[in-house]
Amino acid sequence: MLITLEGIDGSGKSSLHEALKELLADLDPVFTREPGATWVGESVRRAIAEQTDPVTEATLFVADHAAHLAKIVRPALAEGKIVISDRYSDSRYAYQSVTLQGIIPEPERWLRAMHNGWTIVPDRTFLCVLPVDDALTRLKPAGEREHFEKREVLEKVQNNYLEYARAEPSRFVIIDALKDRGEIALFVAEAIREMAKAGTKKGKGKR
Ligand code: TYD
Repeated sequence: MLITLEGIDGSGKSSLHEALKELLADLDPVFTREPGATWVGESVRRAIAEQTDPVTEATLFVADHAAHLAKIVRPALAEGKIVISDRYSDSRYAYQSVTLQGIIPEPERWLRAMHNGWTIVPDRTFLCVLPVDDALTRLKPAGEREHFEKREVLEKVQNNYLEYARAEPSRFVIIDALKDRGEIALFVAEAIREMAKAGTKKGKGKR
């Protein structure tokens, strides 16, 4: 079972990921993230920091996804594990559609085409949503932010996410990220637990 956590920078999804480690320890999930902990992930972080050109950056994010699937996600799912990823393909569709605007015609279609046929679509995606101004107050001071972390960019990214959630209501669960963090973590942990139970009952523990 593949669960992903998505949302704009400052939406609290990384602290939710941390909280789930404790709350779901008995289910022994594989906790992972994109950009990942491999050398490919490292080059993605370098590309972000150096503000390389948007196509280079986008393709590195896709390369990171390929490495992530090959090294972590596929092997874990093959073992019947629950995989919980902090960011995944929807981050690419939501962010790179914005960074590639005006550079590639129909960036979202291009990005989706790069994934189609080999990526694994998550079983459930928890999308942390909050007003962009609230997200910005949780981020580092303006001078130290990544180039994505600007109001204009994050507004568009969040609108993209909300559009995907409308298009796939059975996959996405929208989380009000202004709620208490502990309350959010308990809700998400319970939802994952229910899915795990339903999956085991149907003999669908493996995917
Ligand atoms: P992340 O490591 O989640 O942020 P943080 O360092 O704040 O924990 O992601 C780094 C940045 O990369 C973040 O601004 C979102 C962006 N990103 C994309 O633009 N596309 C992607 O496909 C992914 C995975 C992340």
